[in-house]
Amino acid sequence: MAKHIELSAIGGPEVLRYCEFTPADLAPDEVQVANKAIGINYIDTYIRSGLYPPACLPCGLGTEAAGIVTKVGSNVTTIKVGDRVVYAQSALGAYSEIHNVSESKLALLPDEISFEQAAASFLKGLTVYYLFNLTHKLQAGETILFHAAAGGVGLIACQWAKALGAKLIGTVGSDEKATLAQAAGAWQTINYRRENIVERVLAMTDGEKVSVVYDSVGKETWLDSLDCLKRQGLMVSFGNASGPVIGVNLGILNQKGSLFLTRPSLNGYITTREELAEASKTLFGLISSGKINVDVPENQKFPLSEAVKAHQTLENRATQGSSLLIP
Ligand SMILES: NC(=O)c1ccc[n+]([C@@H]2O[C@H](COP(=O)([O-])OP(=O)(O)OC[C@H]3O[C@@H](n4cnc5c(N)ncnc54)[C@H](OP(=O)(O)O)[C@@H]3O)[C@@H](O)[C@H]2O)c1
Repeated sequence: MAKHIELSAIGGPEVLRYCEFTPADLAPDEVQVANKAIGINYIDTYIRSGLYPPACLPCGLGTEAAGIVTKVGSNVTTIKVGDRVVYAQSALGAYSEIHNVSESKLALLPDEISFEQAAASFLKGLTVYYLFNLTHKLQAGETILFHAAAGGVGLIACQWAKALGAKLIGTVGSDEKATLAQAAGAWQTINYRRENIVERVLAMTDGEKVSVVYDSVGKETWLDSLDCLKRQGLMVSFGNASGPVIGVNLGILNQKGSLFLTRPSLNGYITTREELAEASKTLFGLISSGKINVDVPENQKFPLSEAVKAHQTLENRATQGSSLLIP
């Protein structure tokens, strides 16, 4: 027996239940991981709330953690008992003391990266990797707009953009978050709770606007994001923190300047073992060299039993950077 978080109904944070479960037998291609730190991601709240409904209930929650391998299936060839590993794309159930994960979704963790750093950065860092390398190849000197720049994905994006020499304008929900995003490498910030996003972007860019907008806020920022783009600019809509963008009339892309639009996901970009190996190598290199810092504030490390509180804190916009569950 082990402890995990069970999702037995769709709803608010209060539906998350901390309880005992019997881990399933390992499939031949699976590895059992004793989790040491578990990543909390905004997508976990979409699954819990029913925006992205799980295939069946009850089920586990979470897809990201770092830990030590305790068992390997009969067909596993690249991982052994005792290895330090991290994963971001497992089947639901990472909010748990132990989790069975397909060998193809695991990366070996370099010694210099702690379990906490890994669980705080793997899903979010792989996301920034594909957003800045594959969805669009971000260039030195290029100016972009990145929403929720002091969030988990956001703080990694600020640091990554700076490392590439790009000018990231970050939106944030408080002045404290503005300071954080700037310290992480944002070129400029906009407090979108009190400032007009479009007016500020026009002023910062001398009327030029930006070539790419990375928008994970969704419903509340959709129109402003389009208005911040240059002619033929790229709108990357990659999340729904304020609700999903629905009912779009494609003609709006013509009206706003022959824009391009994409709605990408991590699993659509990092799918094969080779793609995961390449992306993790780049991410681990940036963390190991100190270009990307992913240390988590102590008050955002929640015991696994306090997943309810962790989700409430995240959805209340009270976190900065990444948050963790500790088994
Ligand atoms: N498509 C993909 O591949 C992919 C992968 C990873 C993550 N994502 C998306 O990226 C986003 C960031 O994920 P994360 O895990 O790092 O979360 P996060 O950014 O740490 O938290 C979400 C942030 O969104 C901002 N926000 C703006 N409006 C909000 C609202 N109405 N309600 C709640 N939050 C609001 C808040 O920051 P402020 O207070 O500064 O506004 C909040 O802290 C999420 O939308 C997630 O779904 C997408």
